[in-house]
Amino acid sequence: MSSADVLAAVDRDCDRFLAELKDYLRIPSISTDPEYAGEVERCSDFVAERMREAGLEAEIIRGEGHPIVFGEWLGAEGRPTLLFYGHYDVQPVDPVEEWRHPPFEPTVEGTNLVARGATDDKGQSFAHLKAVGAMLGERGELPVNVKFIVEGEEECGGEAIDAYVRADAGERLACDAVVISDSSMIGPGQPSLLYGLRGLSYMELEVLGPNRDLHSGTFGGAVENPLNALGGILASLKDSDGRILIPGFYDTVRPLEAWEREEMSKLPHDDADYAADVGVEALHGEPGYTTRERTGARPTCDVHGVWGGYQAPGAKTVLPARGGAKVSMRLVPDQDPQEIAALFAAHVQAAAPAGTRVEVRTLSSAEPVLVDATGPLVEAAMAAMADVWGSVPLRVREGGSIPIVSTFADILKVPILLLGFGLADDRLHSPNEKFTISHFFDGIRSTVRLLDRVGEID
Ligand code: BES
Ligand code: MN
Ligand code: MN
Repeated sequence: MSSADVLAAVDRDCDRFLAELKDYLRIPSISTDPEYAGEVERCSDFVAERMREAGLEAEIIRGEGHPIVFGEWLGAEGRPTLLFYGHYDVQPVDPVEEWRHPPFEPTVEGTNLVARGATDDKGQSFAHLKAVGAMLGERGELPVNVKFIVEGEEECGGEAIDAYVRADAGERLACDAVVISDSSMIGPGQPSLLYGLRGLSYMELEVLGPNRDLHSGTFGGAVENPLNALGGILASLKDSDGRILIPGFYDTVRPLEAWEREEMSKLPHDDADYAADVGVEALHGEPGYTTRERTGARPTCDVHGVWGGYQAPGAKTVLPARGGAKVSMRLVPDQDPQEIAALFAAHVQAAAPAGTRVEVRTLSSAEPVLVDATGPLVEAAMAAMADVWGSVPLRVREGGSIPIVSTFADILKVPILLLGFGLADDRLHSPNEKFTISHFFDGIRSTVRLLDRVGEID
C-alpha cells in the first residue's frame, strides 16, 4: 500500500511532533536515582496520555519498581501484531556542568535536538507512537495490530518488566514480531539491523580495613590500607593488553564465526577517526580483534567509579577505613551473568590482602543475546527502512545492552527487530546528548512504512 496519505500528514504535523517530544524531554525521568521517583511516575502518565491521544487503549502497570506503560490497538482482525518496545527512563546527567544548556531544557542546535533522553530512548521510541497516531488520525485504522510496552527502568537494569513479560506474555504480549528502536545506525543514510547485543554483570565492591580512619604517620606501614588494596584488586582484573584475568571468564565465550568476521570487516569504520572522535591518541583492546569485534562481540571489564579516603582540597594524612568501586563486565553469548558475577566475586575475594575484607554486590545484570532476524516480517522491515533511509540495513552486533531483549527472545519466540534511528556520536549517557531532528521525522516515516509493508504480507 502507498503510504502517501499518512506521510503527507507527517510532513504537515512535524512541528507539533517536535514540540511534543520537547515536552516529553522536559520530564527528568532518571530511574536510577530514588530522588526522581516522582518524575518517573509523572513521565509514565505522560506516555499513557500520549498513547490515548494516538488512539490506543492504554494502561499503567504498577508493581515492584517503576511503572510500565502498556497500550494497544487491535482492530485489524486476522492481521499480524507488532509489539513496540521502548523506555521512558533516562540516565543521570552528571557531570552537569559540561552541558551547554540544562539537560531537561531541550534545545535545538542546528540540525540537532539536545537533551537528556533525546535519542536514548524518548526520541526514538516516541517516533513509533507518532507514526501510529498519524495513521489512525488519517485513516481511522491500521493495517496491522499494534501493542506498545514502554518501561521506566531500562537504564537501571530493573526487573519489573522482566517479571511482567514472563507472567503475562501468553495473551497480553502475544505478537508476531517485536520492534525496538533504541540503538544507532551505521551512519546517516546507512541504517542497521542489530542481531546481537552484549549482556552485563554490574558489580559494586567495598574493601573494609581498620575500624576507623587512622593517622597514616602512627599506623601507616603496619596496617593494610583499603584503598591501596582496592588499587591492587582492580589492577588484577586485566593484563596490560586488555585481557581479563578472572579465572574461567572466557570459558563460555562463543567464538566469532568466520562469516561474521568477514561481514564486520566490510562495515565502514576507521580507527583513526574513531580515536579522534573520542579524543585519544591510541586505541586499546584485546589483541587479535578489530575495534568492531572488540565492542560488538568480545566481553569487557571496566571500572566506572572509585571512592574512599580524603577527597576535599589540601592534604590530609589519613589511612581510610574503607573504599570501594563500581565495575561492570559486558558479556557475550554464551556467558551467564550470574555465573560471571560469581567468578568475579571469587576472584576479588582471593585478591584481597590479609587485614582487609571485601564485600561484593551485583547491581544489575543482563543476558547477552543473538536474535533471530530472518523471515518475511524482517524482510518487510528491511524494505521499510530502505524506503526512507535510502539503503537496506546492514546486519551488525552492538556493544550496548537492552536487558529485556533476551527475555523477549526466550519467552515470545518471535523475531526481534532492532532498528535504531540514532547515530554513533549522539552522546548517549554523556553530557549534551542529542538526536538528529530529521532522524526523529524519518523514524516516524519508517514506522509508517513498516506498518504498511507488514500489512501487505499475506
Ligand atoms: N539504548 C541503550 C543500549 C544501546 C546503546 C544499544 C547503543 C545499542 C547501541 C540502553 O538504553 C542502555 O544504555 N542500556 C544499558 C543497560 C544497563 C544499564 C543494564 C547499557 O547498555 O549500559
Ligand atoms: Mn536505551
Ligand atoms: Mn541507555
